[in-house]
Amino acid sequence: MKTDNKFSMTVLSRSTNESFIRSVVATFAAQLDPTVEEISDIKTAVSEAVTNCIVHAYKDSIGKIYITCEISNNLLTVKIRDKGVGIENITKAMEPLYTTAGDERAGLGFAVMQSFMDGIKVRSKLGSGTTVVLRKNISVRYGTARE
Ligand SMILES: Nc1ncnc2c1ncn2[C@@H]1O[C@H](COP(=O)(O)OP(=O)(O)OP(=O)(O)O)[C@@H](O)[C@H]1O
Ligand SMILES: [Mg+2]
Repeated sequence: MKTDNKFSMTVLSRSTNESFIRSVVATFAAQLDPTVEEISDIKTAVSEAVTNCIVHAYKDSIGKIYITCEISNNLLTVKIRDKGVGIENITKAMEPLYTTAGDERAGLGFAVMQSFMDGIKVRSKLGSGTTVVLRKNISVRYGTARE
């Protein structure tokens, strides 16, 4: 598939970088002329994925988060990868309300990513890390006012 545009970046898993990554991805996605709602969906999903790297993957440490963003035609693909603890059972982890963080978290991150994006793929290996791939189709509307 032809790639129209792409960027990659690596950041440390510091909580301040959650809003930083979210803004960078949103700014990159802006070239597709998304609606306010589409941008908001992307920001929310990216936040959830990055927060998971910070609070779960590198729970008691600081590690690297690898982000790759690609635009091909009207499809935005965001890949968020960590080399943290990994997920033992992905199917279970993606169930709404499932969390390993007790009362601290709601267990809704993956459910949010699923509902706000058009596609999500998760790969993980215990002890090696996790990759989350998020996809969003940005609608094309010619000659209509944008929100
Ligand atoms: N990058 C990751 N590395 C390791 N474990 C992860 C990662 N992402 C998710 N998990 C595991 O999957 C579970 C479910 O994740 P999800 O984002 O749905 O909920 P949560 O993070 O526990 O709560 P919330 O997102 O509502 O704050 C987590 O509790 C954690 O055990
Ligand atoms: Mg989460």
